[in-house]
Amino acid sequence: MSKTVLSYDERIKWFHKAQFGMFVHFGLYSLTERGEWAMYNERIPAADYRELAAKFNPRKFDASAWTTLAKEAGAKYIVMTTRHHDGFSLWDSDANDFNSVKTTAGRDFVAEFVNASRKAGLKVGLYYSLLDWRCPGYFEPEKYPASARALVDRIHAEVRELMTRYGKIDILWYDGYWNPAEDIPMAKMARFWKARKLNAMVRSLQPHILINNRSGLAEDLDTPEQHVTASKHGRGWESCMTMGDRFGWGYIRNNPNMKTVPQLLQYLVTAAAGEGNYLLNIGPKPDGTVRREETDRLRAIGAWLKVNGEAVYGCERCELTSEMIGMWTRRGNTGYLNVFRWPGTEAVMPLVDTKPRSATLLATGERLKVKLEQNGRLVISGLPRRPPDPCVSVIKVRFDGKPRALKEKDLSKWLTGDAGKQPSAPCPTGRDSSQSPPAAGTGAFPQG
Ligand code: GLC
Repeated sequence: MSKTVLSYDERIKWFHKAQFGMFVHFGLYSLTERGEWAMYNERIPAADYRELAAKFNPRKFDASAWTTLAKEAGAKYIVMTTRHHDGFSLWDSDANDFNSVKTTAGRDFVAEFVNASRKAGLKVGLYYSLLDWRCPGYFEPEKYPASARALVDRIHAEVRELMTRYGKIDILWYDGYWNPAEDIPMAKMARFWKARKLNAMVRSLQPHILINNRSGLAEDLDTPEQHVTASKHGRGWESCMTMGDRFGWGYIRNNPNMKTVPQLLQYLVTAAAGEGNYLLNIGPKPDGTVRREETDRLRAIGAWLKVNGEAVYGCERCELTSEMIGMWTRRGNTGYLNVFRWPGTEAVMPLVDTKPRSATLLATGERLKVKLEQNGRLVISGLPRRPPDPCVSVIKVRFDGKPRALKEKDLSKWLTGDAGKQPSAPCPTGRDSSQSPPAAGTGAFPQG
């Protein structure tokens, strides 16, 4: 393996084209069936929690079933929790004997996961929580300095194991840099974890790796959680989200608020429209199998991507906006209008500054009529009355150049059909020379 750290642009290339990843929260906490925060939320004493490990033996754990599901969903990468906040490692750690190999299961799930992911052609991400609830020094470092020091030394050792034992790792997905005393600034937490030193070590071992922003340092990727918010152009970002309620990444038996397929697709498209990725989570059951509510939704996303993936993978931002209808993505001079709310036989979007050449329904290739009218109104007609896809239908529009939005230099000019034209000089008499009708309630026009 080359030891030269690659440039950000080189490392981030694949990620910018991936758009969709599958997150897997699986660990000892899955046994509780009450989510991955059960230990802390219920304040289960460490010794009691430890006993759970004797029962952890997910016989049906089959990493290739997960990776097959990820492929069916159209995901390009997969991220698994190797150790969550409860401190239980899913690999044969020498630094942490609270792990799945030294307890009942006797299996290295990280090895199984990495091998299956590689085999399936998926990029591999390892989630790793810095914090470990079992350590008093994490909660009260000043009171328990030896415990705090031991924790930090141990996480450096554990991360080294993850970075040296499993070949090429594409993403290091940190979590848990924070402290329950919430006013501790991020930079201070980065110092607590010795994150600079830690990440330098990671990069020397995995020169191409992408590191997220949850070690207290910005590193390569922003990670908005449970919402889709774009970072600035060029910066890698990824929205992670649960399918069910926001609390509960690990399996929660009774989790009735599953998002619908149209909702999930809208999040995915919104991420793509901001040149970001969508990392959608599953929380497998204690035996390692995936619940039906999750497999069904993932397969539906995959079926949609098979037909409409061109409007998502590798797309860039598009200047055009049509909030009432949906979201635009773009490849070169082609815009893709991802329709969330089907408008009927005609779709109208104002303030388009680039001439369209043609429009088609992406799914069928059916040709539509398209023209550019006054106020930059892009009018697409000949649409079927009902949405061709019950979730999200995509209209592909080829333009003469990179599609541009018309800037409204004078906010009322659209009333005369002249949106985007140069503003006229203010009329010395106080009357507008173009005789635009007064805008109601603006007070901008003298009366009489
Ligand atoms: C939060 C939670 C954690 C979950 C993570 C996923 O940080 O603490 O349980 O794994 O979000 O992004």
